[in-house]
Amino acid sequence: MEGQKKRLFTGLQPSGQLHIGNYFGALKPIVEMFKEHQGLLMIADYHALTSLKNATELHDNIISVAKDFLAAGVDLTNAIIFKQSDVPEHTELAWIFDCLVTVPFLQQAHAYKDKVAKGLEANAGLFTYPMLMAADILLYETDIVPVGQDQRQHVEYAREAASKFNVAYGQTFKEPGEKIQEAVAIVPGTDGQKMSKSYKNTIPLFGTKDEISKAVMSIVTDSSGERPANVYAIHKLFRTEVELDSLYDTNIGNYKVLKEALIADIEAVVAPMRERRDAITDEEVKKVLKDGAEKARAIASIKMADVRNKIGVTL
Ligand code: ADP
Ligand code: TRP
Repeated sequence: MEGQKKRLFTGLQPSGQLHIGNYFGALKPIVEMFKEHQGLLMIADYHALTSLKNATELHDNIISVAKDFLAAGVDLTNAIIFKQSDVPEHTELAWIFDCLVTVPFLQQAHAYKDKVAKGLEANAGLFTYPMLMAADILLYETDIVPVGQDQRQHVEYAREAASKFNVAYGQTFKEPGEKIQEAVAIVPGTDGQKMSKSYKNTIPLFGTKDEISKAVMSIVTDSSGERPANVYAIHKLFRTEVELDSLYDTNIGNYKVLKEALIADIEAVVAPMRERRDAITDEEVKKVLKDGAEKARAIASIKMADVRNKIGVTL
């Protein structure tokens, strides 16, 4: 309908401490999008179970990722934050999708294929992972799914699941829109490669000033160049190139001063968020997630009643 707001849905695996690559690549764009759109932000704890088997870690990561989002400024008037395991309709619908798609189709999914290509054993959960993600998205009449490039294929799988169900049982699911978030620029790490927790080259987002300083001081600099490329590349996230050009031109070869300037610029962005985060209690997080779960279930259960009816299990 014209003028009606588009609905956003995105999910994040609760996978521990965030770095500034996650912030600029995922957290910040999502926070911005929730200023313009209504939608749901889901902590994908059941997806995380495909790789994380430590209960304490999973529990703590769930609380932690919710705090990260609240501290980064997700607007709760527009966004419902909830965790996947609180809305059983997700796993229920995933089963129904599993019964509509073939094994060869699921074998083409990246998350599964990559693991097998590395010679690792994939569990059945990882294999059917895209159908759980399809259920996440499709239960909520989602228009837009902002995800990084690595999740693009999974959104296509969700469209495919919607279409298969609609063909088999009649129009039921909206196919999520084509507006998949464009790939964001890759944030480089302290060694110039993509910043990633698996490369141990990160600058922690909510680290203490000391932790951030230590990471910045460890940025690899190339002594042959006049301008330390790795420092500059990260600095560009915090200041315009015009501002940086004068700073870097007046400090040629003075890497220490440039790194200290970068630390100050990171601190200016991070310190207020860190303070907000420290002030959020576990109890507050639990309350936000409980309220979110109720709101999400209210939507998902209506859709599931329609699905049950259409597949013939409602008597
Ligand atoms: P990591 O590579 O550290 O394991 P994840 O795969 O958990 O990070 O990524 C979580 C989110 O953060 C994804 O949406 C991903 O696109 C984004 N992201 C991760 N690293 C970067 C980076 N260096 N630059 C931009 N975005 C990133
Ligand atoms: N699979 C996504 C990831 O690993 C997380 C996710 C789960 C998700 N369900 C989703 C993302 C639904 C978008 C929509 O990053």
